[in-house]
Amino acid sequence: MIDIPSMQRAGANAVKAIIDDVISEKLDVEKKFSSSKTAFRIADLGCSVGPNTFIAMQNIIDAVQQKYQSQGFASHMPEFQVFFNDHTSNDFNTLFASLPPERPYFATGVPGSFHGRLFPDFSLDFVHSSFALQWLSKVPEELLSKNSAAWNKGRVHYASAPDEVAQAYTVQFAKDITTFLEGRAKELVVGGLMVLNMPGIPNGNPHSSSVTGLSFDILGHCLVDMAKEGLISEVQVDSFNVPIYVASPKEMT
Ligand SMILES: C[S@@+](CC[C@H](N)C(=O)[O-])C[C@H]1O[C@@H](n2cnc3c(N)ncnc32)[C@H](O)[C@@H]1O
Repeated sequence: MIDIPSMQRAGANAVKAIIDDVISEKLDVEKKFSSSKTAFRIADLGCSVGPNTFIAMQNIIDAVQQKYQSQGFASHMPEFQVFFNDHTSNDFNTLFASLPPERPYFATGVPGSFHGRLFPDFSLDFVHSSFALQWLSKVPEELLSKNSAAWNKGRVHYASAPDEVAQAYTVQFAKDITTFLEGRAKELVVGGLMVLNMPGIPNGNPHSSSVTGLSFDILGHCLVDMAKEGLISEVQVDSFNVPIYVASPKEMT
């Protein structure tokens, strides 16, 4: 059985080295210190309920503190504020109740979709997101129309579907990632940093080769079997599609 939260934690640990490098190479401590005396503000977009988000936030703060120390600014260490973002339906109570008691930051919950604006202009120093950007804002509409070439009958995903289905997902992802990046471009301060960790597929590989795609194929087959046994209706299977897209590095540039 695949243990998804542990897999995500392993992914978050692997990203620690990237966070360390980005902060060590790109954070301009002198500029931050001379231009503003406000807290160093970090947002985790798609944080869920923890604990992975707490580990990632601590990793970022450790790296920033290390950079301040190495640049001779140890006595000017900023305060830290962390914005935990997820959908309004996220269990923020569980998140707040399990916040590390000794945390070196002020914690704030920010409900809402990261596919829209979440923060004022120039208000964040660091944006982080882990295993969340694969979620689309919606299922592409063409998949639900019987008259469309992208009608996804008998499947719940694009991995082994006709090209038209995959293309509809690709277009939706392109729209969503553009909106996401445009929003963050406004919200980050000049010189702000961003680390995005998400499942991906190598450039040029077929969609059917992704592990995520394979899992959804199996799910689709199970639902079709359940429909054949009369446990659910065929209409329900045909109208259900998973709004998850696994992008290639090329699609992120
Ligand atoms: C797989 S979990 C990852 C949680 C955590 N970041 C981690 O690495 O363990 C994905 C999270 O992203 C959130 N999410 C998905 N789409 C979102 C959106 N448009 N806006 C905000 N959060 C979103 C989900 O609600 C879920 O909590």
